[in-house]
Amino acid sequence: MISIERLITMKQGVSKLFVFIKDENDVISSKFVEHDILSFVNQQIQENDKDFFAFNQLSQWLCVAVVPKKKDLNLQVEAFRKLGAKILDFCDKEFIKDLQFVSDVQKEYAMGFVEGMLLASYTFDNYKTDAKQTIHPFDNLFVVNPFVENNDIEEAIVIARAVEKYRDLVNEPYCSLNAEGLATAFVNMSHEVGIEVEVWHKDKIEDEKMGGLLAVNQGSVDPPTFTIMRYRPEGSNESPLVLVGKGLVYDTGGLNLKPGDYMNDMKEDMAGAAMMATAIYAIASLGLPIHVVGVFPSTDNRPGFNAYASGDIINMYDGTNVEVVNTDAEGRLILADALSYAKKLSPFLVVDAATLTGAAARAIGPYGIAAVEQDAKEYMTIMKDAGERAYERIAEFPFWSEYDELIKSDIADIKNCGPGEAGMITAGKFLAHFTDYPYIHLDIAGVAMFERKRDYILKGASGYGLRLMVEFIKSLIEKK
Ligand code: BES
Ligand code: MN
Ligand code: ZN
Repeated sequence: MISIERLITMKQGVSKLFVFIKDENDVISSKFVEHDILSFVNQQIQENDKDFFAFNQLSQWLCVAVVPKKKDLNLQVEAFRKLGAKILDFCDKEFIKDLQFVSDVQKEYAMGFVEGMLLASYTFDNYKTDAKQTIHPFDNLFVVNPFVENNDIEEAIVIARAVEKYRDLVNEPYCSLNAEGLATAFVNMSHEVGIEVEVWHKDKIEDEKMGGLLAVNQGSVDPPTFTIMRYRPEGSNESPLVLVGKGLVYDTGGLNLKPGDYMNDMKEDMAGAAMMATAIYAIASLGLPIHVVGVFPSTDNRPGFNAYASGDIINMYDGTNVEVVNTDAEGRLILADALSYAKKLSPFLVVDAATLTGAAARAIGPYGIAAVEQDAKEYMTIMKDAGERAYERIAEFPFWSEYDELIKSDIADIKNCGPGEAGMITAGKFLAHFTDYPYIHLDIAGVAMFERKRDYILKGASGYGLRLMVEFIKSLIEKK
């Protein structure tokens, strides 16, 4: 990752980038940019609609960027994140290793730029034998802005590191990260920042009769795990926020095997667990005053010899009998046991994240998270606001009681999926059956992995949703 430092005054001999926000008719002005350059830039902006200028001054570069003025703060911050990514690409292309960002825009915008650059500088090159192929030549960003403080930069780095861990976990293939491996990664992260952690292995999961997790694991040669992380700083609330995540390390669909190339990216199916675990890692690193428990069921889903089959009836952790209609609707089975377990933790709110349904991805594409809530209307409002700030947005779906009809079973208490329509919602309804507390369900199937680079998010694991959770938790703390 690149390093970031705050400067009080500009450094001589280091390349500079001046950034301005501009309305249609504005001209830019600055006492730091030479008159000749400014008038040239202004002319180009007006006549040719250009927004980026780079002057090669042999030993250093002088760059000027203009960001269009946006309607609201969140959109403006996002424009700065995008600029950060664009400038990183430029620096890499020109082999610029050090750059100072000089701008007197408000703190949120300057930090948007920093965040964009940090997030864009991620690489996953563990498996490139020639590391030169992917490494960014860019090294150091210096921030010259009157409003940014050292602790703003430290916080941005902590969050970017957590996003990096999240992306690494999702990018790691199944052959090097099975359920035991995921649990070990969570243990290591927890030890690093003083989070209490416990891993249940197969025998304990059997003793506890977690029927959902065990059924999905039946066709696998690798045992399941169930990881519990607890971050409880002194003086924090008694009743915790519980974060649950789907840790399905590889989803073949099981006996209802995924056809064609539907299986291609299914190493991503543990992104919900990675997102929530690294969010807890981030808030523990920041020392935020809130009691949080993370609950992460994990296994792969395979059509091995003893694999569970459609028609099976599973007795779940809470005693519910579930008729299996499709073995590819496995995420909800392992999550259901985790949500039932969460009842014992007396939470004030439970949020889960899961790459749960293709239906969520089809409905809104790769531009947001599909969400439903039960008894958590006010928390959902806070979640949506946090989503706008992080620009990891929430689209709330209806959660009318009529949808319950679609997962009624003729022979058991409930079945694991409904007909094709409203697939994201019926999955949520299935999960809600196992809750008795305020509850928000986040379906991240559309955003966990990107098919192509988009600004500060590279192709592959996106790291989407972690910054949303940190913003959400900060708002919860503020509102208390
Ligand atoms: N892991 C998948 C959902 C998924 C799809 C995640 C695409 C990321 C990208 C999930 O386990 C699944 O297979 N869901 C089925 C449910 C259906 C059988 C009711 C689906 O969405 O097709
Ligand atoms: Mn599946
Ligand atoms: Zn799945």
